[in-house]
This record gives sequence, C-alpha cells and structure tokens, in this order.
Amino acid sequence: MGSTGVAVVMVTVMMIVHADIKPQKDFNLQRFGGRWYRVGLAYDSPSFLPLRPLLTASMGIVTPLPNGSVNLTMWEQTPVGCLTKMYHYEAGSVPGQFSYFSLRHNIVKDITVVDTNYTEYAIVLKNKVFNREYTQVALYARSLKVKNEVYQKYKAFALSRHLPRDSIMTPPPAENCPVNGH
Ligand SMILES: *[C@@H]1O[C@H](CO)[C@@H](O)[C@H](O)[C@H]1NC(C)=O
Ligand SMILES: *[C@@H]1O[C@H](CO)[C@@H](O)[C@H](O)[C@H]1NC(C)=O
Ligand SMILES: *[C@@H]1O[C@H](CO)[C@@H](O)[C@H](O)[C@H]1NC(C)=O
Repeated sequence: MGSTGVAVVMVTVMMIVHADIKPQKDFNLQRFGGRWYRVGLAYDSPSFLPLRPLLTASMGIVTPLPNGSVNLTMWEQTPVGCLTKMYHYEAGSVPGQFSYFSLRHNIVKDITVVDTNYTEYAIVLKNKVFNREYTQVALYARSLKVKNEVYQKYKAFALSRHLPRDSIMTPPPAENCPVNGH
C-alpha cells in the first residue's frame, strides 16, 4: 500500500534528524510505569499559541504492556471540562524509544525518554514531521513539587533542541482534574 511507503520514508527521515538523540541508558520500562504529572511543556507550534495560557500540569498513568509497548492515560483540563485521553505507544528498536500513529494527522510520531531517574523526573522528546519538523519537550515528574535543578535540566534540554525561551512553559496544576482526585 502507498501509505506504508510514505510512513517508512518518514521514519527514515526522523531517524536521520535525531541520530544525535539517545534515550536514557539502560531504560527500564517497568520502573517508568505508574503515575506522572506533566509539569513542563516546551512547544512552539503556531496552532498551539492560543492554548498556552490554558495549559495545566496534567496527570498521566503509564501502563507497560508485556510486549514493551505502553498505554498512556492522560487527564487534561479543557474549556469543556476534565477529559481523559488514551494513547498507545509502540516500542521502538531501542529501549526508551516509542512511536505512535496519529489518526488525526495521519503520520508517525516518535517519542524518546531522554533522561529519567524514575523516582522524580523524566524528560521526554516528541517529534513529528508535518509540513515542517515539530519538536516538543515535556517534563514529567512523580509529584507536582519539582526541584529547581530538575526545571533547569528541562529548560537546558529544550533550549538545546532550539525551542524558543517563551515556548518553555511550566504550567500551574490542574484543579479538580482528574475529578475524583487520584
Ligand atoms: C503490543 O501489544 C499491544 C497490546 O496488546 C498491541 O496492541 C500491539 O499491537 C502489540 N505490538 C506489537 C508490535 O506486537
Ligand atoms: C491498553 O489500551 C487498550 C486500548 O484502549 C485496552 O484495550 C487495553 O485493555 C489496555 N491494556 C492495559 C493493560 O491497560
Ligand atoms: C532523582 O533526581 C532528583 C533531582 O535531580 C534527585 O534529587 C534525586 O536524588 C534522584 N533520585 C535518584 C534515586 O537518583
């Protein structure tokens, strides 16, 4: 099928672009599982600009599956309330790398857990090629209280990926989302 060919070409392009990005050494998916809060997001897509002030620190649960892929459940505060979103990420060829097919954009996106110590924080890079290349850096933390040194690590990494300073956000916690607490 033609679309398979296109996907293969895109994956190849992304691998060339990100040959310099390595996942966390000895990435351990089991230890990465469980509850995280997305306490930082750096993203400069023009379509995301109007949504920046509405961004909150979402909660997510990572469920490792037996074949190395993961389910991610995220709770997101939106103008119409607290929404639950489910994602499925397939394991990549290297531990700490994942990919998923976006039905909305009809493209493959890749995700790399760049740096994590499992108990406190994770820096995650998301990439897609869609008209141009889009890079998103997220900071995940096990609690909403984050050490300054962790924020500094996240900011330094986002800057190193050429994200503009004003796109590197540390949103406030979501209120009452998930609705019945944890
Ligand atoms: C891994 O398991 C999930 C859930 O059972 C499944 O949806 C997915 O297709 C599997 N991936 C591969 C590469 O077999
Ligand atoms: C993973 O997500 C799929 C699709 O939403 C669901 O059918 C499956 O039960 C989930 N697996 C686990 C272990 O949560
Ligand atoms: C995880 O990282 C934090 C912040 O850098 C650090 O304070 C903590 O000691 C680390 N924990 C482990 C188990 O390495």
